[in-house]
Amino acid sequence: MFQAAVQTFSVSAAAASVYRGVFLVGFRRYCKKTSTKLRVSEALTGAEVGADVKVQGWVRSVRSQKNNIFFHVNDGSSLKSLQVVAGAEMNDPLLTFGSAVEVTGILKKSPHQKQPVELEAEQIRVVGGCNPVDFPFKIKERHSLEYIRQLPHLRCRTNAFSSLLRIRSEATAAIHSYFKDHGFVQIHTPIITSNDCEGAGELFKVEPSGPDFGDDEEFFSVPAFLTVSGQLHLEVMSGAFSRVYTFGPTFRAENSQSRRHLAEFFMVEAEISFTESLKDLTKVMEDMFRSATERVLARCVEDVDLFHRHVTPGHRWGCDLMTEHEKHLVKHCGNVPVFVTDYPYDLKPFYARDNQDQPRHTTAAVDLLVPGIGELCGGSLREERLDLLMARLKQVGLEDNYSWYLDLRRFGAVPHGGFGLGFERYLQCILGVDNIKDVIPFPRFSHSCLL
Ligand code: 4AD
Repeated sequence: MFQAAVQTFSVSAAAASVYRGVFLVGFRRYCKKTSTKLRVSEALTGAEVGADVKVQGWVRSVRSQKNNIFFHVNDGSSLKSLQVVAGAEMNDPLLTFGSAVEVTGILKKSPHQKQPVELEAEQIRVVGGCNPVDFPFKIKERHSLEYIRQLPHLRCRTNAFSSLLRIRSEATAAIHSYFKDHGFVQIHTPIITSNDCEGAGELFKVEPSGPDFGDDEEFFSVPAFLTVSGQLHLEVMSGAFSRVYTFGPTFRAENSQSRRHLAEFFMVEAEISFTESLKDLTKVMEDMFRSATERVLARCVEDVDLFHRHVTPGHRWGCDLMTEHEKHLVKHCGNVPVFVTDYPYDLKPFYARDNQDQPRHTTAAVDLLVPGIGELCGGSLREERLDLLMARLKQVGLEDNYSWYLDLRRFGAVPHGGFGLGFERYLQCILGVDNIKDVIPFPRFSHSCLL
């Protein structure tokens, strides 16, 4: 017999006064008494042993015996699945590997050491069937990363890729948390922009595809592109907030299918005002790397372990991902991360600060090279001296496009600098993953934009 239960949600007096005049007075929800809905990760803690619970997820294995059926349910909340035990009479031909199920029953302490708890099913509902013959993944088979890469719409159902995505999510949170803890303000830099920050011409143009605009009319009245870097917008903001960062998608029209290039990747970028030394920048890069990696490795032990078992050991380090120069430098320094500083002036974009060290003539730029990957971060001090910046922009024929950028040097300019870290390369680095396409949910690269 179900009893009607009432849940109320009310707003505190203080909050209510803030929302004065608004409808927020109190919500009332009527519902039937139901089993407690648990995520698999919550069920596995054992805290709810003895409770009547409901679990929803996808079947990862099924085993039938004379009197009982055993199956594992996974809902993505953890690498581990919850074992369900049911009487043989509850078997359903639709209950197969890959099917979606909803199971209610009593959570019991498991008699086996392999799992702390198991769910003794009282009701099993197959929510979505899955024909095991057609399903591209087979029970008990370990599928290679190369194989699952061909199935971007289904690979999140595998242990390896779901582990990767949980690690990626934790790494994202770790990076945000590092910046929050160190007084950085997050800025949502635009995805559509009219500048080419890196000046390398690797831009995707943005145009409407509908009939409303003629061929000779620009939607934005100026050519517009997908951003290659949020740096210039961060520089604007660093002039008010001192320390800012952004973490979002970045686009490069590089005709490359290499194992470390994507056409759409995520970049973490920071910009710091009142900084006159590359050491200040390399310290932030190193601290952020350490802090995020320690948190990921501590919180995702099982996922990291599982993922490592999918990475062919020979591919972990020293594979052919880096340019010859990068490889040589890293090897020379003992296969550890290496900061390379003070690049030749002509090799770096217009914004890099001139070291004025003729005849060498270098800029205050820095790259972080890591074993197996090559360049993980690129950054520099920015040219804040108006006359030098004007001369440089003139030299590269950009003086007309960047009058706003020069304004930043006219009104309260300060020495500043920043860097960008390729988030997928970071994941490759900490997990030892050979191919960048295996660390992003939906890879985009030249000649491929699946889904
Ligand atoms: O070195 P990059 O080009 O630096 C900038 O864009 C600066 N404006 C950043 C800044 O100072 N705010 O790119 C930064 C990082 C690289 O070190 C690399 O890790 C990654 O972005 N990256 C790519 N990752 C995947 N695919 C690509 N095509 C990439 N291009 C760069």
